[in-house]
Amino acid sequence: MSPQHDRTRRALLSALPSLTVVKMAFPTSASANTDNSLKTERTLVVYLSPSGNTRVIAGVIHRSLHSDLFEIEPAIPYPDDYFQTVEQTKIDRDLRPPLKSSVSNIERYQTIYLGFPVWGTTLPPVVQTFLTTHNQADKTLIPFITHGGYGVGNSEALLARLAPHARREQPLVIECDQERRTTEIVTRWLSTVSR
Ligand SMILES: Cc1cc2nc3c(=O)[nH]c(=O)nc-3n(C[C@H](O)[C@H](O)[C@H](O)COP(=O)(O)O)c2cc1C
Repeated sequence: MSPQHDRTRRALLSALPSLTVVKMAFPTSASANTDNSLKTERTLVVYLSPSGNTRVIAGVIHRSLHSDLFEIEPAIPYPDDYFQTVEQTKIDRDLRPPLKSSVSNIERYQTIYLGFPVWGTTLPPVVQTFLTTHNQADKTLIPFITHGGYGVGNSEALLARLAPHARREQPLVIECDQERRTTEIVTRWLSTVSR
């Protein structure tokens, strides 16, 4: 090895630790693309969650991605009681109940995470309203779906029909505790305790 080559090698070796620090301090251009601060402007988490299961997932995604968050709510609130809600949704089944509020400027979002519970083996009517009143064209739609043990039913097929121009990713599907089960257990228990 020539003395010149040796000097160059030693100089490179002694520079390595500082090179490592530089790499840690400044993201590469590839990691800069996944920088959450950039996603803030263009990722939206939208969800319906009258009994709270889907909200938990929406919160995790929202906090992880530093996204915007929007809760789908009907203009006329659902009843507090689980069984009354079930009855209400049977009435709404073929309707598109109006929303309490809409996402202003949906155009600025390129990616939309859409969370909803399965109702009556399909998409809840108010989520159908959301899809038909907000333009999904050319956006990436990433569903996250909760259900009470009977699976997603035809909700994915209906989603594809209502957002035909969106790029859809595989959904996250999670079985969550059903409010029905909890309500029945508590009601049974209440009837056994003396008042
Ligand atoms: C009106 C209504 C209808 C439902 N229909 C179904 C169904 O068809 N299949 C199923 O597995 N779960 C069904 N469930 C259970 C919910 O999908 C499940 O509990 C979901 O996690 C609730 O989400 P949330 O807590 O975010 O509202 C229904 C619940 C309600 C209130």
